[in-house]
Amino acid sequence: MRAPYRVALLGLGNVGGALARRLVEDADRITTAAGRPIALEGIAVAHPEGRRAPAPLLPAAKLLARPHLDAIVEVMGGLEPAHTYISMALRAGRQVITANKQLIAADGPELARLGPLRFEASVASAIPIVETLAETLGADRIGSIMGILNGTTNSMLAAMGEGASYADALADAQRRGLAEADPSADVDAHDPAAKLAILAMLAFKRRIDPSQIERVGIRNVEPAQVEAARRGGCVIKLIAAATGDDGTIAADVRPRLVPAEAPMARVHGAMNAVALDAEYAGSLLFEGPGAGPDAAASAVLADLIRAANDAPASAGSLLATLADGSPAIVVPLGPEKPYRAAS
Ligand code: HSE
Repeated sequence: MRAPYRVALLGLGNVGGALARRLVEDADRITTAAGRPIALEGIAVAHPEGRRAPAPLLPAAKLLARPHLDAIVEVMGGLEPAHTYISMALRAGRQVITANKQLIAADGPELARLGPLRFEASVASAIPIVETLAETLGADRIGSIMGILNGTTNSMLAAMGEGASYADALADAQRRGLAEADPSADVDAHDPAAKLAILAMLAFKRRIDPSQIERVGIRNVEPAQVEAARRGGCVIKLIAAATGDDGTIAADVRPRLVPAEAPMARVHGAMNAVALDAEYAGSLLFEGPGAGPDAAASAVLADLIRAANDAPASAGSLLATLADGSPAIVVPLGPEKPYRAAS
C-alpha cells in the first residue's frame, strides 16, 4: 500500500461537510479506490470558533504552508481568496481540486497553467461531464451542447408548476443546500452561464469569457406562465445551450418552452442534464443530480481519487492550452432555438 495522500480542505460548508463526512465514513472503500488512504490533514474555515470537524481547524495560510501536503480541495466558492489559495498551492507543486465554477470559468486557463487543476464538481455536480469532455471525447468534434445546469432554478420551476410561490420555491431550494450563498447567482443565471462557459471551453477548445454569454434568469417567470406553458403541452426550463459550428460560438442561458415529451422536460427537481452532439460518438445525453452536498462531494471525491492515483488532470491540461488565446466572440443563440424562449 502506498503512503497516505495528504489533503487540506479549504471550506467546510455544505459540500466541504459532505466530503469530510464521506472521507471518514467511507474510508475503506476510498482507500481501495485510491490505492492508498486519503488523510485529511486540516480544514480551513473563516470562523472556526466552536465548530467541530474531523480534522484540525487551521487558518488557511497556516494550513497551506504545511510541508508534505499532496493536494488541496477548495470548496469555499467565490473568486477571492480562492484564487490566491489555489495559485499558491499550484505554485508549491500541489494538486488542486475545486468545485468553484465561477473561478474556473473566469480564470481556469491561467490557473491550469500553474499545475494540475481538477474541477469535475464545478459543472452539474455528480454528472461526470468535465473529464468526459476533456478525455473520453477529447478527440471528437462537438457541435452543440444543451443542458439544464442549475439545480436550484430547475427545482424552483418544478415547485412553481405545482403551485408554490417564487419565494417559497427559493426558500425550499435554500433549505436543501442547493442554492448559492447569494441565490441571485442561481435565479439570474450567472451560475449556469459559468458552467456553460466551462463546458464550451472543453467542447470547442476556445477561450470563453462567461460574461459574454447572454443570460436571462427566472426572476420574472410567473407561476401563471408556468401554468400556461403546461396547458400548451410544454414545461419552462432554464436552458443553457451553445453551438460551435464553423468557429462561431453561439451561446445563451434563458427560460425556454420545452415540449413535455422531450427528454429535457423530464429532468426534475435538482437534477441536471447535458445533451451533446458529437461528430463521431453521436448524440449523448447525461442526466443526474446537479446540486446538493452529497452530489457535489461525490464529484470532488472522484477528482481526489484520480489525483491520488496519479491520473492525468485532462480537463485542466486542456484549459491550460487556451490560456494564451483571446476570448472567442460569443453571439446569443436567440429566442427560437434550441426551444422557443419562454418570455
Ligand atoms: N447552486 C448550484 C445549483 C449548486 O443549484 O445548481 C451546484 O452547482
